[in-house]
Amino acid sequence: MELIDLRVQQEKIRNTLDRNINRVLDHGHYIMGPEINELEEKLGDFVGSAHAISCASGADALLLSLMALGVGPGHAVFTTPFTFVATAEVISLLGATPIFVDIDPKTFSMDPRELEKAIIALPSRNSCMYRYRFKAPLIPKCVITVDLFGLPADYESVEAIAKRYSVSVVEDGAQAFGAQYRGKRACSFGQIGCTSFFPAKPLGCYGDGGMCFTDEEALASILRCLRVHGQGRHKYENIRIGINSRLDTLQAAILLAKFEIFSEEIELREKAARRYGELLGDNPTIEVQTVPPHCRSIWAQYCILVKEAKNRLRVLETLGAEGIPTAIYYPKPLHLQQAFAPLGYKPGDFPVSEDISSRIFSLPMHPYLRPQDQERIAQLLSRI
Ligand SMILES: Cc1ncc(COP(=O)(O)O)c(C=O)c1O
Repeated sequence: MELIDLRVQQEKIRNTLDRNINRVLDHGHYIMGPEINELEEKLGDFVGSAHAISCASGADALLLSLMALGVGPGHAVFTTPFTFVATAEVISLLGATPIFVDIDPKTFSMDPRELEKAIIALPSRNSCMYRYRFKAPLIPKCVITVDLFGLPADYESVEAIAKRYSVSVVEDGAQAFGAQYRGKRACSFGQIGCTSFFPAKPLGCYGDGGMCFTDEEALASILRCLRVHGQGRHKYENIRIGINSRLDTLQAAILLAKFEIFSEEIELREKAARRYGELLGDNPTIEVQTVPPHCRSIWAQYCILVKEAKNRLRVLETLGAEGIPTAIYYPKPLHLQQAFAPLGYKPGDFPVSEDISSRIFSLPMHPYLRPQDQERIAQLLSRI
């Protein structure tokens, strides 16, 4: 059993993959070939965004988005400490300051009340979020929401707060391509929505890849410029400081093959998640991530919490001994990582994130998970 099984999927679409890859080998446009445009159009339509701009990774999608919004030194960018490092790393890379905001204990998404408190407390720094020393006052500039494990964040609340305080929203939908919030697709929220095509993601390629989505023409044109070294009307006219962050044509060709079965895979993921829900629902020793009724998760990960942190290792060892792979996303929240030590956060600053980190783990999850394997996992968990 695999945590995320990509082999079954590959067998299913091998012919389309071969045909698409061969087409690229035949035309030879390895950089910005015709598959890039085709993919951007298809995924833009799927998400419901006017513009889709592919790039080299999910981390680059976030970086390019912040660059396009003009984020830099002196800016506060609010995000959660319970996410993959890339979400906050890009803030620091641009010389801006990540301001962490604790999460909701049920959905693991940014808690909107904590976000508003953090924005209000910024001028006085009267909060644990501001324990570190500033060299200069910070301007609240942007919020990066994270659609964790495939579940969209609380956009209604976050977007209302962002509007009230005139800050932009960037959606980190790296784990959520295909999910829905109030009937709208993930990656369509905020000024710019970002996703990742890392192989294990719900729509993954065979390498690194990412995409930005936006309805704003001006932002789309800046993003397109930034991903090619700030290029202007032609290759040797440079109008901005940019980066080299293009999606490879070969990866676009692979994604086009995978996208053909994506809708079917969304249903299979939902079916597998429902099955887990039914099998694990009565187990009093664990809790499952709550999906609010107006959301449809894409279940990038199926995460559960043990009731008591001290039991987690035993549970993982028991499952491991039976050949069931597990993983911990994320064992240490970002405010306690060495990389962010200069921000001066301490254990206890974000109690919900710290508690969830100590109790969470994920079970195998992918569209081709067999019901009998899920039953075996549930049985083992009921005995622990
Ligand atoms: C929440 C989140 N943000 C950003 C990223 C970065 O994506 P990539 O690995 O494609 O750079 C990831 C990837 O794991 C992620 O999970």
